[in-house]
Amino acid sequence: MKRRDFIRLTFGLFTSVALFEFPNKLFAQEDNLYLRSLELLNNRDKFFGRDYFSFIVMGDSHKNDKVLKKAFELARSYDPMFVLFTGDMTNDGYEFEYKDFLNMCNILKDVPIFPIIGNHEIRNSTKALYERYMGPLNYTISIDKLDLKLVCIDNSEGIVRKDQHYFLDKELTDGCKIQFVAMHEPPSYEDWWIHSYYKGNKEVIDIVSKHQVNAVFQGHIHLYDHKVIKGVNYYISGGAGGRIYALNFGDPSYNILRVKVTKGVVSVEELQLRNFFDADKLLT
Ligand SMILES: [Fe+2]
Repeated sequence: MKRRDFIRLTFGLFTSVALFEFPNKLFAQEDNLYLRSLELLNNRDKFFGRDYFSFIVMGDSHKNDKVLKKAFELARSYDPMFVLFTGDMTNDGYEFEYKDFLNMCNILKDVPIFPIIGNHEIRNSTKALYERYMGPLNYTISIDKLDLKLVCIDNSEGIVRKDQHYFLDKELTDGCKIQFVAMHEPPSYEDWWIHSYYKGNKEVIDIVSKHQVNAVFQGHIHLYDHKVIKGVNYYISGGAGGRIYALNFGDPSYNILRVKVTKGVVSVEELQLRNFFDADKLLT
């Protein structure tokens, strides 16, 4: 079996995979983080079954390697099937920042990490550079033996377009038992009106609700929060290193999420880094 055939993949529109020389010796020359992670997942998913599997969600490290190192160490300690990183792994989208992030990923060892593009990746750069180092912009990971589907969407420009609505709806149509959706920015909804996306958000909410997705994961706002929108659980976890700021909602702390699926039942737990590490060392 070819390494990229083990899992059904769907790339969204406008995605491509470029060939390049990887800065990390653990990576083959033709790989980006996404492809390398697929290979790792291929070696790893056999350890998990429908009775139990778990993964970690985090985002918004913004080049704060001190906090990101702790977040990765904590993630690794739970031996998850994979880590989902919901964007802003760089501060300005520069090439050296991608290389630094890839080096940091060595902390995870054999745990795959699937990236999503954030608005900071295109702040001073292009999506093409992101694709070269990280992977596709819109994609789906389906693992049949776990009845699991994860659909990742690019809303780094503050919009989910019509073609992406179609892609999302199509990907969720076949009705896997466990379905997750992830993107960088949370939708503008009630008190999430600040620092959220408001173009195409209503359509996404309706599509996600129609398919009764188990959870939607986002970053962008540097805190933790949870909200139920039209019967679906939405989580913000933007606590992997970017400057934390307090708003009138959520928990303003460095955090990651632990997602457990036990016999088809999904649970999501916020892990505050200060409960595992010396808070002073995280901040200095
Ligand atoms: Fe951010």
